Order: sequence, then C-alpha cells, then structure tokens
Amino acid sequence: MKIIINLIILLQLMFFSVATADEVYTLGKEIFLNNGTCASCHSLKDAGTNSNIGPNLNEIRPDIGRVKNAVTNGIGIMPTFSEILSEEEINAVSYYVSESTNN
Ligand code: HEC
Repeated sequence: MKIIINLIILLQLMFFSVATADEVYTLGKEIFLNNGTCASCHSLKDAGTNSNIGPNLNEIRPDIGRVKNAVTNGIGIMPTFSEILSEEEINAVSYYVSESTNN
C-alpha cells in the first residue's frame, strides 16, 4: 500500500508537472533551504544544514509519502505547510528529502 502511494506521488511529479526529476530535485532543495524553512529545524547532509530541533533526516531516511504527510499535516511541534507551500512545492520538497537521504 505504502509503495503504491509513493508511486502515485512520483507519477504526479513526473507527468503532471512540466519539470524533469532533476528540476524537481533542485526546486525541492531550494524550498528546503528557503521558503519551507525546513533548514531551521532539520539536519540534512545534502543541504548542509545542522539544526536539531527536529529529527536528523539522514538518520530517519523518510520515504516521500512520510515527508509529504509531515509537511502537509504537521507533526508534533512541526507546523503544517499546507497554507505556505503549494501542492507542487510540497511534492518537490518531499521528493528532494526522500531522494537525498535514501541512496
Ligand atoms: C519549527 C521546526 C520545524 C520546521 C520548520 C520543520 N520541521 Fe520537520 N519536524 C520538526 C519536529 C520537531 C519533528 C518531530 C515531530 C514529532 O515526531 O513529534 C519533525 C518531523 C519531521 C519529519 C518526520 C516525520 C515522521 O513521520 O516522523 C519529516 C520528514 C520532516 N519533519 C520534514 C520537514 C520538512 C521537509 C520541512 C520543511 C517543509 C520541515 N520538516 C520543517 C520540526 C520542524
């Protein structure tokens, strides 16, 4: 089930946006560091951030669905970003975090 949901998100990224996977990755990184403010709370090696208010993303290695859920709905003290980021931006940052931590 989880794999199917991840596949659906990935297919949305590839076919319903005009961006290539590389462009989505770059956009996601930019959102992580800037508009998403993720960098202020999370360590992520690829982004060069080392804050520890939230979990180290290289340690929990979340899949795309898990990131998307946290960013969309919020979790614990982490706020929801559904009013701040567009669906496309949430997909991009979720793709970036899962790709950069899971290989
Ligand atoms: C204000 C600080 C803060 C910001 C900003 C923030 N987070 Fe978090 N994040 C947290 C905390 C704290 C947790 C742990 C929540 C818990 O498990 O109670 C968390 C958890 C997570 C998790 C793990 C969810 C799970 O299922 O365990 C992911 C993935 C994540 N954040 C990604 C992001 C991304 C991507 C962004 C930017 C769009 C972001 N966070 C912005 C504080 C933050």
